[in-house]
Amino acid sequence: MKFFIDTANLDQIKEAQELGVLDGVTTNPSLMAKEGITGRENILKHYVDICNLVDGDVSAEVIATDIDGMIKEGEELAALHEQIVVKIPMIKDGIKALKYFSDKGIKTNCTLVFSVGQALLAAKAGATYVSPFLGRLDDISTDGLQLISDIRLVYDNYAFETQILAASVRHTMHVIDCAKLGSDVMTGPLSSIEGLLKHPLTDIGLEKFLADYKKGNS
Ligand code: E4P
Repeated sequence: MKFFIDTANLDQIKEAQELGVLDGVTTNPSLMAKEGITGRENILKHYVDICNLVDGDVSAEVIATDIDGMIKEGEELAALHEQIVVKIPMIKDGIKALKYFSDKGIKTNCTLVFSVGQALLAAKAGATYVSPFLGRLDDISTDGLQLISDIRLVYDNYAFETQILAASVRHTMHVIDCAKLGSDVMTGPLSSIEGLLKHPLTDIGLEKFLADYKKGNS
């Protein structure tokens, strides 16, 4: 499973990259705003800065919601850096844009996916990634993990190449559950990745090993 980090914060991206297990980054307009990145030029520069920090795919979202606008913006984003993946919302013109970019060999990430039907459409349109938002479904008492599992079944039935990018991951158990369900990618905060490290028996065991070594070598 690929690990993406879901942030526009350069320090966190750098920290995740240094851990050596990072495969990419996802951003969205809210995450960019959170970092205070505003104005078209600054936003585009920030995407390039992110690409220069990581080795993998970097999702950059279009703001336009009409086909012509999405194509214009998506082409501008894709031209920024070879690692850019054009992130397109799951709306009618978004489907047309996914098909357009897919035909041109430009990578896409279909965002704001909340149903199997939407995921099926995204795959039919040739999306590189589909992003079901599991945390936001959990937030409204709907089983986000069930959606990941259902999309996996449908994609496997027809050998769709679209990769399932479990998005809106909120914590470490989401990461583990997505891995069990065969999600191709997960994107979440750095804490959701670092949480995989933790086990009290590891800490207790290491403390004992070091104490025993010290006894024999002092
Ligand atoms: C996906 O690409 C989105 O950026 C993200 O995962 C949304 O997560 P949130 O529901 O925590 O905002």
